[in-house]
Amino acid sequence: MTKLVLGIETSCDDTSIALVDQQGNVAAIETVSQYEVHSDFGGVYPELASRAHLEAILPAIEIVIERANIDPQDLRAIGVTRGPGLMGSLLVGLSTAQALGLAWDVPTYGINHLRGHIRSVDLEKRRLRFPALILLVSGGHTLLAFCKDQNSFDLLGTTRDDSVGECYDKVARTLGLGMPGGPIIDKIAALGTPSIMFPRPMKKSGYEFSFSGLKSSVARYVETNKDFDANDVAASFVQACLDVLSTKVLRAIEQVQPETLCVVGGVAASAQVRACMKAICDDTNVTLCLPPQKWATDNAAMIAMATWDYISQGINTDLEPKPNLHLGVA
Ligand code: KG4
Ligand code: ZN
Repeated sequence: MTKLVLGIETSCDDTSIALVDQQGNVAAIETVSQYEVHSDFGGVYPELASRAHLEAILPAIEIVIERANIDPQDLRAIGVTRGPGLMGSLLVGLSTAQALGLAWDVPTYGINHLRGHIRSVDLEKRRLRFPALILLVSGGHTLLAFCKDQNSFDLLGTTRDDSVGECYDKVARTLGLGMPGGPIIDKIAALGTPSIMFPRPMKKSGYEFSFSGLKSSVARYVETNKDFDANDVAASFVQACLDVLSTKVLRAIEQVQPETLCVVGGVAASAQVRACMKAICDDTNVTLCLPPQKWATDNAAMIAMATWDYISQGINTDLEPKPNLHLGVA
């Protein structure tokens, strides 16, 4: 019988449970989103997030076990996000995983959410090859890293302030477009013309990012141009983001000469980000590794996928929540 890992992801505002085999096939997944819980707050309200996880987690686990028709005692392992993320939300996943691991007598691993995003490219089909340049663009993170092999995670640069995803969400709010902002901006940007020259913060040097100035510049433009065209603002904003991201990715490709470029995190669901990174890879003869679009945003399948790495590499982690966990620590 094919062995499965049960993945549990509760680091932010999605309760996600998945069963995944070592080849990356997703046998079952159930994701409960909290958009409605937080919509009045314009962002994730931590106290409400942990309560919502608590309500959703056990029914979601029951659903995937029933769907895949398995005996939980046959699981190869449980993998649960231990960080980074919101303390209360992480605790719900970790304590549930610990209890089930004991009850079912199944080994349980605490998994780094960022490593889960990287392994999202292996869902449905194994794609990742080393050395790999990683561009992680999500709501919580924006970073470039170099992985010489599967055990090395060298951070090249991260953001000094907002992440790209956060910036997409805030621009959507500035334009009165609601939540979730990223996909809406991505969609309307394709309808507009990038005619407004927004700033390209920190484009000229290094691998660090800064997006808060760009976000403020969009807000100022909207404030002073009452008859603005939302599609053109979105297109110009996306163009500025892509200009910064692609310049830094090209710089890193020249420096580290990777075999693959791996673009992950929620913003990697963007059609325009995917097209831009494909163009770079076509020009540089680097193989592009993208997660299937539906697995770019937070999900438990990627956490299960990373768990297979921990198992095969004999990585042992504890089940303590680590809200500020870095990429370099399993
Ligand atoms: O990876 P993720 O689900 O959560 C974190 O780990 O942070 O990323 C969420 C972010 C949000 O900012 C969301 O607006 C953005 O990813 N996002 C997108 C798209 N889908 C989600 N941004 C641009 N285009 C999309 N299609
Ligand atoms: Zn994430």
